[in-house]
Amino acid sequence: MSLDSSRAFWDAKAAENPYWYVSSYGAYAERDLAEFWQAGRRIWQDLRDTIGYTPRHSDVAIEVGCGIGRLTRAIAADVAHVHAFDISEGMLALARLAGPVNATFHQSHGDSLAGMPSGAADVAVAYCVFQHLPSLAVLARYVTEMRRVVKPGGTLAFTLSPRTWGDRLRGLLRAKRWLHEQLVRGGPRGLYRREWIGIRPRRDTVLALSPVPLAFAPLHGDKWLFWGRVPDAEPQSAARVAASASRATSRPDRAHAAGLGAS
Ligand SMILES: C[S@@+](CC[C@H](N)C(=O)[O-])C[C@H]1O[C@@H](n2cnc3c(N)ncnc32)[C@H](O)[C@@H]1O
Repeated sequence: MSLDSSRAFWDAKAAENPYWYVSSYGAYAERDLAEFWQAGRRIWQDLRDTIGYTPRHSDVAIEVGCGIGRLTRAIAADVAHVHAFDISEGMLALARLAGPVNATFHQSHGDSLAGMPSGAADVAVAYCVFQHLPSLAVLARYVTEMRRVVKPGGTLAFTLSPRTWGDRLRGLLRAKRWLHEQLVRGGPRGLYRREWIGIRPRRDTVLALSPVPLAFAPLHGDKWLFWGRVPDAEPQSAARVAASASRATSRPDRAHAAGLGAS
């Protein structure tokens, strides 16, 4: 699995059924769209409350993996501007259709926030995205990028899927899902694919790869939320940040082992 195959997967899902692949908790067919958009507002409120972020109307926010803009709309209502990134041009095209005027949608290379100046944002969030990444190395690059674009005193936050008993049965669960999709018509499709299943790092692995100290809390019963504040004064040299990311990424990637997950 590569970032190219990840992009192709998410573009295909944007064409197939963007609402379900953005939020797999609703019905695959006949999605309740009012509930879908309301969920974006609720999730943003929960994120704000948990990480202790109080938006100011002058704030600039960055969202990684915005999908069709479910959270972007909620974030935009609270801040001056949102820069929303996604790997999939298909998702972004839908997000732009009804995007808030104070949001700019950018296609991401899949592991960077290229184009965003350093220290430009007050907050950077990635909700329900990083569990789909191809490797710990990509996760480390993204967290380092989030830290780069957040100004001193600002906050970065992201979710991952918890490791479960299913991690030990990953191969079996993938095979079962593949068989199911051969026998059953209709969606969702491709939930056995690595582009969907992504990574399930251990909590201490995530803490170790971050260039800023991270706090942790379970969220919504099925997510791990990590967040950290960029120090006001800069105690970490660039060399130490790079060393921290490289230490974490040089470990064996134990991530590909979990249930098939959800978004
Ligand atoms: C489950 S959806 C969540 C969307 C949005 N965060 C939400 O909760 O409404 C995951 C999104 O992450 C995007 N994505 C997957 N891998 C990515 C990557 N490497 N960089 C940026 N976006 C990515 C997908 O295209 C998809 O839009």
